[in-house]
Amino acid sequence: MSTNAPLIGQPMDRTDGVLKVTGQARYAAEFPEARLAHAVMVTSPISSGSIVSIDASRAQALPGVLLVMTYQNALRLPNGGHPPLAPPAGRHLSLLQDNQIHYSNEPVAVVVADTLEHATDAAQQLRIAYQSTPGAHDFTSAKAKAHAPVSPQGRQTDTQRGDVAAGLVNGAVHIDAVYTTPVEHHNPMEPHATMAYWDGPQLTLHDSTQGVSGTRTAVAKTLGVPPEDVHVISPFLGGGFGGKGSSWSHVVLCAMAAKQTGRPVRLVLTRPQMFGSVGARPRTEQHLVLAAHRDGTLTAMQHDSISNTSMIEDWTETCCMVTRMMYAVPNQLTTHRLVQLNLGTPTFMRAPGETTGSFALESAMDELAWSLKMDPIALRLKNYAEVDPQENKPFSSKALRQCYAIGAEQFGWSRRTARPRSMRSGNTLIGLGMASATYPANRSPAGAVARILPDGTAQVGSGTQDLGTGTYTVMTQVCADALGFPPDKIHFTLGDSSLPPAPGSGGSQSAASVSPAVHDACMQARNQLIALALADNASPVHGVDVADVSVENGWVVSISNPSLRDPAGAILARAGGRPIEAVASVKPGEERSEFSMHSFGAVFAEVHVDADLGTIRVPRIVGVYDVGRVLNEKTARSQMMGGMVWGISAAFEEDTLLDERYGRFVNMNLAEYHVPVNADIGTLEVSFINEPDPHINSLGVRGIGEIGLTGVVAALANAVYHATGVRVRDLPITLDKVLMPTRV
Ligand code: MOS
Repeated sequence: MSTNAPLIGQPMDRTDGVLKVTGQARYAAEFPEARLAHAVMVTSPISSGSIVSIDASRAQALPGVLLVMTYQNALRLPNGGHPPLAPPAGRHLSLLQDNQIHYSNEPVAVVVADTLEHATDAAQQLRIAYQSTPGAHDFTSAKAKAHAPVSPQGRQTDTQRGDVAAGLVNGAVHIDAVYTTPVEHHNPMEPHATMAYWDGPQLTLHDSTQGVSGTRTAVAKTLGVPPEDVHVISPFLGGGFGGKGSSWSHVVLCAMAAKQTGRPVRLVLTRPQMFGSVGARPRTEQHLVLAAHRDGTLTAMQHDSISNTSMIEDWTETCCMVTRMMYAVPNQLTTHRLVQLNLGTPTFMRAPGETTGSFALESAMDELAWSLKMDPIALRLKNYAEVDPQENKPFSSKALRQCYAIGAEQFGWSRRTARPRSMRSGNTLIGLGMASATYPANRSPAGAVARILPDGTAQVGSGTQDLGTGTYTVMTQVCADALGFPPDKIHFTLGDSSLPPAPGSGGSQSAASVSPAVHDACMQARNQLIALALADNASPVHGVDVADVSVENGWVVSISNPSLRDPAGAILARAGGRPIEAVASVKPGEERSEFSMHSFGAVFAEVHVDADLGTIRVPRIVGVYDVGRVLNEKTARSQMMGGMVWGISAAFEEDTLLDERYGRFVNMNLAEYHVPVNADIGTLEVSFINEPDPHINSLGVRGIGEIGLTGVVAALANAVYHATGVRVRDLPITLDKVLMPTRV
């Protein structure tokens, strides 16, 4: 063992921080390429119908125009551009293979020119005539034709345990309420962007993607080329949030345009184009029925969720996932249904299902607590799930009790007076609310390669991604501890499909999947280095017992006699100057069938509501999380703060407004699609239990990508109720809903 303090857990600064703030970090649209051509995507103004005619003559005659790609001349793809792949690798894309329109903002052409200005100009000169047919845009009326999805994202569509009808009769107190959430759109700072070039049969893609391997597979299968011929590079992302977890139409269109022009082509979506062909969080309508004895013991729970999908693909917001595992209720029914609308296909968006589902469930639990005149934490403790009630398995670890207790203490929950509208300061109504947070602890197979080089540095790589969350940094920490090298001697690479494959960075699985692989590869390399030194007559550590040897600061050293030591560079130089290389490939084992694996947390929020105006401020949120072992206290805290900010956003601001006459979103820009600014954010306090999960993997690490958003919206909504006495069940909670509540 190293005597150096472990780096894992330390709040180490981002290893890529300087690159980013000095503009040296290169994003997908920033790679220079000789003869680069610029593409502009043209999208449909109608939501349903077909293209009748295209007049490209004016566009084509403009200076610098290289290609006007439409369904009439686009590369024909095998299987109509729809390979038999399940999402996220296989989305139903719009690749100019026919003249049909399924949603507004669907790609209908790609114009390529020598400059972006020429391409933009030509795109505007393209004349496309459409035949519009009546589209389905109204969620409420389309509900009559809702259908059950097949195994949404591999989950069960519906679940049932016990006898819900009997449980409902058995309960003395009931809550029966409908919660609704709007369509929301991912708005990462970096828009979707791709640059493609062909070298013979070889395609290289610089793409802003959450999964280089997934993108390679999807693009290769869609184009009908071998995956080995596709190379995907994505070293930096300016956010993704699930929106870049699939390869959408523009990625393949960019590759097609590069093929057809014989030039490297860059295609960057405009902000308005981010509202359509690249996914969204769908609208949800969730009906919750809860029944409990007077002492708070839940007797039954029913959760029916309806969300919208598109006309071309089923994608389900799995709102019931939290409900299934959160509380020890014996009788339960959960269902997911889909409404088809002429909108773009929805997709994963930060805690897909858990964000929306936990808003509904944790609001309903709050309503039940009020009905029972019970403290909301006491109600949750009364129904605390000691084992996963749906799977009937123990949790790999669960410190939610501690989260409630520590959070309540830190937040000052005891100062909360029981009655709604009972805390005020002048004209400000003060509300305190809480909710539980949870997210599954996912893990997938992952690989890594570690090399120790003759210059005494190490190169470690894995085909994972860094969305801006800190993968480079935390993996460098894992490497440093495993190798016994200082972090500045470690060069960690990712975002390249030629590296050992790792899962897509979605479902909060990167840290839990990749860190054991990186650790394993580094341990192997370290052991090779030690073996090399011990076997070498010329080494100062020659002949030292292997049990007495460590690697510290890049030196192989005798633990009992630290004066016997040998630097890695010298060891390799004497051995012929060849690098040491070790490859690891790890995957989850039997533990997944024995344990239910989730992260947990407790969120406490304070809101201030103007009694006359209904304006809402959020001075403080406290969150305490059990996410297993924390790899980096600083990046982890930042991740959770990001979740809290998003919670404020989802609770009070985000709302994609649909013009139901045309099926067109009307606020397709960051001026009118509201997200918080600094002035909207008060104090955010994050703490971690920081106990390793003994079962999930060798490092005890669970993912933290998404749990930060769960629970926050409900905690805020519950706080608004406490402040005002108005229960808003329809997001976002805006001042009009607080001032003029709809009576239910
Ligand atoms: Mo995850 S839905 O990729 O934030």
